[in-house]
Amino acid sequence: MRKLLHLTSSLFDAHGKQGVSTQLSHELIAGLTAADASLQVQARDFAQTPIPYLDNAWLGALFTPAEERSEEQAQKVAFSDALIAELKAADVLVLGVPTYNFSVPAMLRSWADHVARAGVTFKYTDKGAVGLAGTKKVYGVIASGGIHEEGGSDHVRPWLRTFLGFIGLTDVEFVVAGGLNMGESARAEGLQKARNQIAALLAAAKE
Ligand SMILES: Cc1cc2nc3c(=O)[nH]c(=O)nc-3n(C[C@H](O)[C@H](O)[C@H](O)COP(=O)(O)O)c2cc1C
Repeated sequence: MRKLLHLTSSLFDAHGKQGVSTQLSHELIAGLTAADASLQVQARDFAQTPIPYLDNAWLGALFTPAEERSEEQAQKVAFSDALIAELKAADVLVLGVPTYNFSVPAMLRSWADHVARAGVTFKYTDKGAVGLAGTKKVYGVIASGGIHEEGGSDHVRPWLRTFLGFIGLTDVEFVVAGGLNMGESARAEGLQKARNQIAALLAAAKE
């Protein structure tokens, strides 16, 4: 059995509706599970279960020896530990990523603060950082109202590549649905391009 962790963070995921990044990432996962029936999907929806910011109380809990932690501190550490455990256990990671203010949603950024832990998901050596989060394929399914190019106003793909690479996840593919708020034909074109990318990734996954 292989595990697929699906993280979604669209603020439009509510009242029976789904954001585009959520919808398209479900389409990708449907294709992946159709090709590999052993894939077990675990979903974490940040809209349903918010990820608290890693504040100073949280960091204090992490730095307090386990036997000296208060009940509240122990709960904080257990929350972060659970996020790390499900990440490390996954063979495939699928991220639904809306573009908010040229970057990733605050809750996805907050998730990164919880899972980047020295000695657990990365370590520093005299040659630099080494990622310890395991070997896995990552798919980032990105939605944006406008069109953003790498090297320009797109800070989503560069940040995701850098952060994921830092924790050792270097096998990363992106699906991008852009221009969603630029009128009907641009939206249709953005969705079609993204679905073409999904089809190409699914074909490559079968090879
Ligand atoms: C708070 C907020 C900030 C946004 N910022 C951007 C932005 O910087 N660039 C952009 O192209 N679209 C921006 N958008 C539009 C979203 O990227 C677009 O609605 C997209 O479909 C969101 O993904 P989703 O459908 O998966 O929720 C923003 C939307 C919201 C709600």
